[in-house]
Amino acid sequence: MSFLGISGLAKSYGTVTALGGIDLAVEKGEFVTLLGPSGSGKTTLLMAIGGFVLADRGVISLMSRDITRLDPEDRDLGLVFQGYALFPHMSVAENIAFPLEIRRWPRPRIAARVEEMLALVGLAALAGRRPRELSGGQQQRVALARALSFGPELLLLDEPLSALDRTLRESMQRELKRLHRETGVTFVYVTHDQEEAISMSDRIAVFRQGRIEQIGTPRQMYGRPATRFVAEFLGINNLFEGRVEAGPGGRAIRTFAGLLPIGRASDGTPLVAGAPATLWVRPEHASLAPVPEAVAVSAVIRDVAFLGAHDRLVLQPDGGPELIVQFPAGEAERFQPGARLTVHLPLAAFGVLPSA
Ligand SMILES: Nc1ncnc2c1ncn2[C@@H]1O[C@H](COP(=O)(O)OP(=O)(O)O)[C@@H](O)[C@H]1O
Ligand SMILES: [Mg+2]
Repeated sequence: MSFLGISGLAKSYGTVTALGGIDLAVEKGEFVTLLGPSGSGKTTLLMAIGGFVLADRGVISLMSRDITRLDPEDRDLGLVFQGYALFPHMSVAENIAFPLEIRRWPRPRIAARVEEMLALVGLAALAGRRPRELSGGQQQRVALARALSFGPELLLLDEPLSALDRTLRESMQRELKRLHRETGVTFVYVTHDQEEAISMSDRIAVFRQGRIEQIGTPRQMYGRPATRFVAEFLGINNLFEGRVEAGPGGRAIRTFAGLLPIGRASDGTPLVAGAPATLWVRPEHASLAPVPEAVAVSAVIRDVAFLGAHDRLVLQPDGGPELIVQFPAGEAERFQPGARLTVHLPLAAFGVLPSA
């Protein structure tokens, strides 16, 4: 049995289906991220795990115990939200001690634990400050220390970094991964930011309209998205349609760029002759110089953007949909919108979605 098991969990608000039957198994010590657009049910699932939302159907189990109808305080989970919800009149140390006082830990044990938590999040020097005397990142560290102080086995985090600016967010991401590693606590983390999900998680569950559309490791999700929705949500911007043909040398896909000798979807399933196929290719796989085993695409340049480390071009191929390509900075400097260009896309760089 899994550490955290969710089966058939459903929740509706009137006519809105917030959760449409969720099945999810989380192993002990895992970092699992719920990733999806706003309104897809991520917070509702987290709140149901925490005991703040009662599901209409389904079962939640934690460490072999059915917790579906348990009160939040009997679940003993750590919670961290976007708004840190620190107690403004209490010092950093008092905030961290609070969950321990509720649990009636003896004084010396509380003092020792607070010191340990302050060291863990690097705030020993600020123990006496009030929350309003701290930066956003420091407040979030206090919230983390408070959520972990009583030693929960499971920490639920709902977009905890979304209020922070980019630089701080990236350093807090590393901080969270370190805390996860050092404490061994199981993390269920909610975000709508695909980069954050990819860089932090052991596994990602992509949410769509109250359902999990796909779950897997970041590498699996990045390399083998199962649906167009997942592909687009993970930042794949070149998706186009083709049709499978039974050629002399096996299956191939007819596209605007010609017949591509690809016989299987990226997940290994064989393609069916006559069926439509959705292909994708990442901008960074295009090359200006010819490469072996590649398809050449002739196009008009629509836009050239300098993005620091690379140049990004929007192309309009002859008879095809818009194509976004990217080259190391400098390589594409000479190109101007309106000019023609041929790019080379290696066959191995194409992904093919499994048939619906
Ligand atoms: N308390 C509530 N009352 C009515 N509708 C709600 C409530 N909570 C969530 N919803 C609806 O359920 C859906 C899922 O919401 P939520 O879980 O907050 O999504 P997410 O966290 O992915 O943005 C949304 O359509 C939202 O409007
Ligand atoms: Mg939410």
